[in-house]
Amino acid sequence: MDYKAYIAERIPAEGVSKEEIAESIAIPPDSSMGDFALPCFKFAKVLRKSPAMIAEDLKGKYPVDGVVSEVSAVNGYLNFKIDKVGLARDVLERIGREGEKYGSAEIGKGKTICLDYSSVNIAKPFHIGHLSTTVLGGALYRIFNFLGYKAVGINHLGDYGTQFGKLISAYTRWGNRDLVEKGGIRALNELYVRFHREAEERPELEDEARAYFKKIEEGDKECLALFEWFKELTLKDVNKIYELLDIHFDSYAGESFYQDKMQPVIDELKEKHLLVESRGAQIVDLEAYGMSPCIILKSDGSSLYATRDMAAAIYRKQTYDFDKCLYVVAYQQNLHFKQFFKVLELMGKEWAKDLVHVAYGMVSLEDGAMSTRKGNVVFLEDIINKCVEKALAILVEKNPDLENKEDVAKKVGVGAVVFGALYNNKIKDIVFSYDKALNFDGETSVYVQYTCARAYSVLNRAEGVNYKNAPISEPCAQEFELLKLLADFPDTVRAAAEKYEPSYIARYAVDVAQKFNKFYIDCKILQAESGVKEMRLRLTEATLVTLKNALTLLGIGVPEKM
Ligand code: ARG
Repeated sequence: MDYKAYIAERIPAEGVSKEEIAESIAIPPDSSMGDFALPCFKFAKVLRKSPAMIAEDLKGKYPVDGVVSEVSAVNGYLNFKIDKVGLARDVLERIGREGEKYGSAEIGKGKTICLDYSSVNIAKPFHIGHLSTTVLGGALYRIFNFLGYKAVGINHLGDYGTQFGKLISAYTRWGNRDLVEKGGIRALNELYVRFHREAEERPELEDEARAYFKKIEEGDKECLALFEWFKELTLKDVNKIYELLDIHFDSYAGESFYQDKMQPVIDELKEKHLLVESRGAQIVDLEAYGMSPCIILKSDGSSLYATRDMAAAIYRKQTYDFDKCLYVVAYQQNLHFKQFFKVLELMGKEWAKDLVHVAYGMVSLEDGAMSTRKGNVVFLEDIINKCVEKALAILVEKNPDLENKEDVAKKVGVGAVVFGALYNNKIKDIVFSYDKALNFDGETSVYVQYTCARAYSVLNRAEGVNYKNAPISEPCAQEFELLKLLADFPDTVRAAAEKYEPSYIARYAVDVAQKFNKFYIDCKILQAESGVKEMRLRLTEATLVTLKNALTLLGIGVPEKM
């Protein structure tokens, strides 16, 4: 049962939509007043009455029934008390029935969402800067699929540009097959760094690099083969991380894929009189929209990042006929997206409104930022490995007899990195700290995982007790708090999708874990009298199912024992 919708349906407020009411209904932190509350402040303007009067008026009109047992109006809030037994039965039956599907929906049926995420750069290290786009995108991909959408994961590879000329120049001068074969991206990165160091003294290297790039573009066999090889090596390295993080893509069409798809875009821009010349370059003037111009072609005729992105958007629309196309990319690129979205709109593409830049903040380690050119870069792989190592040390200390230690440590360590990037509102800059991320008592994934292990242990010890369909009686305060929160999971998933905010699910999981632990500590489960015990076991199982579903959406594994 969707309580918010149920209540909203019955509130007779003319001039305010049911959806708007449902969205405004919240679960108050202190439930002594009510289990759900509608703040009436928002409606004061439309209804031309004070919030207190609105609440009072609606209270008189609300039809109390077997679901909502009491309504009160306090300080501009309309408070609802839910029939406890009804809610308990509702939630436990539903979770028991739906299991792994609890929280899923069909709202996306028939709709396609393209998601551009991770989008790594070939031959460049997969560093901490790619963490957020990868795990945010991965989570959104799972969330949208869970809600019935057809999600299309796209890795828009950065595989085009003069840097590949630089790399070939560096490889030809200082590299060899063996070195790169063994060293992978790290070796390529070192070559790249060396190129920049040496080019500072010898600028003629830059010309050489440009010449090599031109060769790639012209399809020179040798250069192309090297480039393909670099690409293969990068993807091999990156795939190791994708595997760890459970990340999938349906397409790896990167920037170079659009090489032959840009001319039609340029022609169309010309045809629509949008292209103007400026100091030799071809641009679209966006001054009227308060933006600097979108450069389409440089003075030497070469294309830009934006040109390729426009071709990509058009290609995606044609190929997938998306309802939305999301770009999970750092906020540093805000202007880039605004610009090319606008240009597509000016071209008359009505679907330009369906392009969304899902911007997120920076992740850094305690020791500061990095640059690929200078070489002081932190590889994501190293961060994950370090986190897994630390997790192993903590686990062994806490539980020396733990079975499958390595496997558990992997789930805990990887989870900590993922959760670290997903716990905060995505636009916030975050500083990753190993100790904080691995704090068993913090707002962390390991805390949630530990809670799951606790629930598993309770259920394992209850072997032989038949609780699956145990009768439901009036829940105590702790049980009721937990039940209410479990009932809110489907709404949380929907809100996370709507706002592109997996953090809602991360926070929700911590919330559930806290409420479960309060219940676990305050109430006996296995020692409770018969009747109560069975219902508590049902509640424990329902909590575990919900937490597992939440963590799975985020891409975090759940060990049975810790
Ligand atoms: N490769 C780019 C970078 O690392 C991100 C690409 C994002 N996607 C896009 N369609 N522009 O900055």
